[in-house]
Amino acid sequence: MHNKMYTLITGASEGLGKSFALECAMRNMNLVLVALPDSGLNELADFIRRNFPVSVITLERDLTEPLSCEGLLSEIQNQDLHLQVLINNAGIGSTIPFAEGTVELYERQIRLNVLATTIITRLFLENLERNTPSYILNVGSMASFFFLQRKEVYGATKSYIHFFSRSLRKGVIRDGIHVSVLCPGGINTNLSVILLNRKLGWLSKLAVMNPEQVAAVAMAGLFKGKAVIVPGVINNIFMVLDRLLPEFVKARITSYGMKNLKVDDRYKRLLMSETAISIAEGKMA
Ligand SMILES: NC(=O)c1ccc[n+]([C@@H]2O[C@H](COP(=O)([O-])OP(=O)(O)OC[C@H]3O[C@@H](n4cnc5c(N)ncnc54)[C@H](OP(=O)(O)O)[C@@H]3O)[C@@H](O)[C@H]2O)c1
Repeated sequence: MHNKMYTLITGASEGLGKSFALECAMRNMNLVLVALPDSGLNELADFIRRNFPVSVITLERDLTEPLSCEGLLSEIQNQDLHLQVLINNAGIGSTIPFAEGTVELYERQIRLNVLATTIITRLFLENLERNTPSYILNVGSMASFFFLQRKEVYGATKSYIHFFSRSLRKGVIRDGIHVSVLCPGGINTNLSVILLNRKLGWLSKLAVMNPEQVAAVAMAGLFKGKAVIVPGVINNIFMVLDRLLPEFVKARITSYGMKNLKVDDRYKRLLMSETAISIAEGKMA
């Protein structure tokens, strides 16, 4: 029996999730890291254990599998772990014309981005309630604020995360649980996103951030109790413009931006994450 407090991070093997793991380790927070099997999670955990005075537990799970979130809860209960922070980061992105995405891709995107986030939050609520003040950080996206071609499903999953987080915040604050939603713009996390970010217009390119910067801003915002965290000065200017500009002007700007993402066929594969490619090729059910 121990009274250590833990932070659970989903999708922690790569990209933003990995930066969250390192940011939390720097803050001396004990970690439960969750990602797909064979994703390099154990190597990351070893690195953190060697360099920071924190406990790290790894759980390899495909969160789109039925009952995987319940399995995660059982593991945490069996090990009697006390959670104080939950970071729902795992998510599948894609930037392709709607008709080019497979049914399997959209199904998996909705299962991971929407269902897993909701179920994990519900299942771990009692644990968080016992360790207040406690915190939930849901990773949304700036795509949740705009109507974007090529991101129809992704943007809609992130709008769900936005509404879910802000509504939940109202209900659980009286129990001592603080909920924030992180809405980043482009982040140079993995090869597909880096390539995509290179194709953006100059202003959007300027707004692209590194995952370490985003993780640091997000954790600071979470502990300050911010409802919505939009990292980066330029992204915040976009948000102000969003409130000021009339709808038809915004529609023209966003559709111009997305249409101009003309990608050479050779690179089309890269505009889907590795996971999305595996799904499209039928390697993942
Ligand atoms: N990158 C951006 O520009 C950007 C912008 C706004 C918001 N976001 C959001 O930020 C979050 C992280 O994005 P990222 O760019 O860092 O993504 P990423 O580099 O593709 O990393 C995603 C993480 O989630 C894990 N994961 C994927 N499918 C999973 C599953 N079924 N079960 C468990 N774990 C799974 C991955 O494990 P594997 O390594 O094994 O695949 C990886 O650790 C996402 O929610 C994304 O929507 C990203």
